[in-house]
Amino acid sequence: MKKIVLMALGLVAATAAWSAGDSFVNEKAHNNIRSKDSLRRGAQTYMNYCLGCHSMDFQRYNRVAKDLELTEDEMMESLVLTDAKFVDKMEISMTKEQGDAWFGKAGPDLTVIAKARGVDWLFSYLVNFYQDENQANGWNNLTLPNAAMPHILWEMQGIQKAHFEEVTDEDGNSHKEFKSFEKVVEGRMNDTEYRDMVRDLVNFLDYSSEPAKLIRMDYAPWVLLFVSFFTFLAYLLKVNYFRDVH
Ligand code: HEC
Repeated sequence: MKKIVLMALGLVAATAAWSAGDSFVNEKAHNNIRSKDSLRRGAQTYMNYCLGCHSMDFQRYNRVAKDLELTEDEMMESLVLTDAKFVDKMEISMTKEQGDAWFGKAGPDLTVIAKARGVDWLFSYLVNFYQDENQANGWNNLTLPNAAMPHILWEMQGIQKAHFEEVTDEDGNSHKEFKSFEKVVEGRMNDTEYRDMVRDLVNFLDYSSEPAKLIRMDYAPWVLLFVSFFTFLAYLLKVNYFRDVH
C-alpha cells in the first residue's frame, strides 16, 4: 500500500515538474465555448486579423450571427469588413496560388482547424511567435517551427526573442533546447490581456469547428435530467415488481 502511495506521489511530482518546465511553450487554452461574449470578441479578432489570409469556407456569416446572437445589422456593421453579403460563406479573395507565391505557402482554411490541432495547440501557437532574423519574414514559432505565417498580432503582444541552449544527449548528439523568451518591444497589451484575447480567438475557432457543440451543450442538462428521471422510475418499478418476491 505504502509503495502504491509513493508511486502515485512520484507520478504527481513528475507531472507537475514536466508541466511547469514546459508551461511557456505548451500552454492550455482554457476557453469557454458557452460564453457568447468571448465568442463575439473572438469573431471580431478573426474578422480583423485572420480572414485576410484564412478562409472559413464551411461557415456562413448569417450562421455565425445566429449562433452568436447578433442581429443582421450588428453582424454587417461590426463583423463583416469586406463587401460580402450576410448569406455569403466566409471566403477570401486570395487564391491558393497567390498565397503560395506571396508567403511560400498559402494560409489553410481554418473552419475545422480546432478539430485538427486541438485548442491548446492553437493557443500555444498564437503566443509562441518570436523574432528570427534567419527567417524570410523575420518571424519564427516554437509550436510550428519555420512557420510561413508572420506574427500578425505582434502589435498587441509586442516582440519577443527566444533564447536557446545547446544540449548534448547521452549519444553525444547536440541539439538546441528552448530556454526562455525575452520581450524586446512592448506590445499594446500586457501578457494577461494578450492571452485573454487569444483565448477568445481560439474559442471562436473551437466553435466554428463544430457549431452544433453549442446546441449540444445547451441540451446536455436536460438529457441528464431525463436519464435521471427515468432511472428513478425504473427503480420504483423494480421495487414494485420485487415486492412479493421473497
Ligand atoms: C498574412 C497572411 C496571414 C494572416 C493575416 C494570418 N495567417 Fe495564419 N497562416 C498563414 C500562412 C502562410 C500559414 C502557413 C504556415 C505554415 O504552414 O508554414 C498560416 C498558418 C496558420 C495556422 C497553422 C495551420 C496548421 O495547422 O498548420 C494557424 C492555426 C493560423 N495560421 C492561424 C491564424 C490566425 C488565428 C490568424 C489571425 C490572428 C492568422 N492565422 C492570420 C498566413 C496568415
